[in-house]
Amino acid sequence: MKAVMIPEAHKIEVLDVPQPEIKQDNEVLVKIKRVGICGSDMHIYHGTNPLATYPRIVGHEVTGEVIEIGSNVSSLTVGDHVVIEPISYCGTCYACKSGRPNVCKEVSVFGVHEDGGMREIVVLPEKQLHKVDPEISWDEAVMAEPYTIGAQAVWRGNVKEGNTVFIQGAGPIGICVLKMAKLNGATVIISDITNNRLEFAKENGADYTINPTEVDLESKIYEITNNEGANIVIDAVGTPQTFELSVKVASAAGNVVTLGFNEKPSSIALLPITKKELTITGSRLQTNQFGKVVQLINEKKLTHAGLITHKFHISEAKEAFEFVEKNPEKVRKAVIIFD
Ligand SMILES: NC(=O)c1ccc[n+]([C@@H]2O[C@H](COP(=O)([O-])OP(=O)(O)OC[C@H]3O[C@@H](n4cnc5c(N)ncnc54)[C@H](O)[C@@H]3O)[C@@H](O)[C@H]2O)c1
Ligand SMILES: [Zn+2]
Ligand SMILES: [Zn+2]
Repeated sequence: MKAVMIPEAHKIEVLDVPQPEIKQDNEVLVKIKRVGICGSDMHIYHGTNPLATYPRIVGHEVTGEVIEIGSNVSSLTVGDHVVIEPISYCGTCYACKSGRPNVCKEVSVFGVHEDGGMREIVVLPEKQLHKVDPEISWDEAVMAEPYTIGAQAVWRGNVKEGNTVFIQGAGPIGICVLKMAKLNGATVIISDITNNRLEFAKENGADYTINPTEVDLESKIYEITNNEGANIVIDAVGTPQTFELSVKVASAAGNVVTLGFNEKPSSIALLPITKKELTITGSRLQTNQFGKVVQLINEKKLTHAGLITHKFHISEAKEAFEFVEKNPEKVRKAVIIFD
């Protein structure tokens, strides 16, 4: 069967690999239908993801159909449509016991620390699979994982009806955060340095859009919020500057949520944090968000609505990665298809 392999940084190839088999009675064999290409897959390709090891079959935004089940599998049957929850964890460390296995000290992400979904067939434990309504198209189902990133950020920020949320960055992750914040009933302000990304955010429910290269962002946020600041600021850009700005424009008693993996330090004074009693939280991957997201997809309350802009067959995976790399202004989300 075919698999998209990154043997080492800057190389990508479509190879023939052995088909996996069920070895444990809790395992399920899944025929893959769609896999999204994520920024982090591009980082593995470029050798800039410090967590990835090589050679690696990438892909963690995955949907497919069950073709065989182990003898002890009870929640799934052959023919079911599923999305993959891409994390496994130890279950015994402090984070796991605190209900936060996404930050387990031994967390293993499908497609990053272990081989992922860009291959024709995968085998996974039943608990990493979530059933999706069979009438939902594969193009909608494949977006479940990025939505869970948005759902996690909104949960970490405690976004509630009536809150004003400011999202920095209208890339695919910023858009997923936007969709989840709107479903929670928030008023959303979103910024990006690219106007066509802001237009797409507006089509997806953003109440206000700001291009910080055109207007003074800080004064605009205070103007929109009647001098209060944003109750929740979610940084889906992830630079020292956007983190500093988050602290500046958050309201008193507000929350700041960071999604970026930048290693460069920010220069932030204690005063605004203490004075406004801010809560600053990280948001990584997701925990317990798949059930909610799949339900919203099944109810057609979450639709990609133009977020998927490009599709490539698995045989064209190399071209797909090159296209995504060279055309950031054209590609929102590119997806690999398998049939
Ligand atoms: N924590 C997690 O679990 C998780 C998961 C996925 C991605 N991420 C991170 O989320 C971030 C966004 O991911 P993405 O895939 O949407 O990336 P992306 O690069 O596609 O999008 C980032 C967007 O930010 C915009 N931007 C750049 N500088 C800006 C600024 N100063 N102000 C406003 N907008 C600005 C860009 O124009 C772009 O549209 C990245 O840092 C990524 O590493 C985190
Ligand atoms: Zn991703
Ligand atoms: Zn653990």
